Amino acid sequence: MLSESWQGYGQLGKIIAITNQKGGVGKTTTALNLSASLALAEEDILVIDSDPQGNLTSGLGIKNLSKNGLYEVYAGKLSIDEAIQKTCIPSLYILPATADLFAAEIELLERAERENTLKFFLKPLKKRFRYIFIDCPPSFGLLTLNALAASDSVLVPVQCEYFALEGLSLLVKLLWRIRGGFNESLNMEGILLTMFNRHIALSRQVAEEVRRVFKSKVYDTVIPRNIVLAESPSHGKPAVFYAPDSPGARGYISLAKEVLNNNNTLF
Ligand SMILES: Nc1ncnc2c1ncn2[C@@H]1O[C@H](COP(=O)(O)OP(=O)(O)OP(=O)(O)O)[C@@H](O)[C@H]1O
Ligand SMILES: [Mg+2]
Repeated sequence: MLSESWQGYGQLGKIIAITNQKGGVGKTTTALNLSASLALAEEDILVIDSDPQGNLTSGLGIKNLSKNGLYEVYAGKLSIDEAIQKTCIPSLYILPATADLFAAEIELLERAERENTLKFFLKPLKKRFRYIFIDCPPSFGLLTLNALAASDSVLVPVQCEYFALEGLSLLVKLLWRIRGGFNESLNMEGILLTMFNRHIALSRQVAEEVRRVFKSKVYDTVIPRNIVLAESPSHGKPAVFYAPDSPGARGYISLAKEVLNNNNTLF
């Protein structure tokens, strides 16, 4: 089902976890629109829904999913190749989630290699996909640990609001622990300011403060608050596909260019 490997370049693909333990900061919106923007550039991209809420899965218009998602892969009932599906966007593939994924948090506890299960499944896919994005849940449980252990880097969306910096320092501490424990080569891909409203002083102050502390790790691109980004999942399509000229979609296309530039890939 999957296309042949992209590896004419002789490199392996990159796995990027989109994570922040804080809820509602734009992780899923970023996973949807960044992966779709890169797929529109005709790269084979895989996006993994590692959140039992399944927002990414429904945001890509996948319905009536019964027993063929990430949970079944963790449970050994399905191979990862069988679980990966095409989406409405050419070159974009998804490993979807069902609510059953909640059970994986508990069942993984009994495994010896409980943090490294996803890493083991994803390894062969680095030859097939240029980028693999993992949409993490808003928690530090075993689903997030598996995503961080399997990833080359993390992309952290930060909502331009009051407790943003507190949440970020907590996350940075966690990432240091992951580097010390399960994944010493885990890098910071970048911090993304989301839901920015230039008319609100607090939004501007938070953005400035995050840039002052995290400097070049913060993307130049800022995602504006834009209703189109919130509406497009109900149409089963990312905003970059559904309304490419909207300010939100333009933000994510600009982010995709930055990600490619930072990784020395031509657009
Ligand atoms: N830039 C934006 N402008 C307007 N609405 C947005 C923007 N980004 C995200 N949203 C909306 O805000 C809500 C939270 O966003 P999203 O689901 O992407 O966050 P999340 O971090 O994945 O949440 P969770 O932690 O629950 O998984 C959603 O309703 C989404 O449509
Ligand atoms: Mg989400």
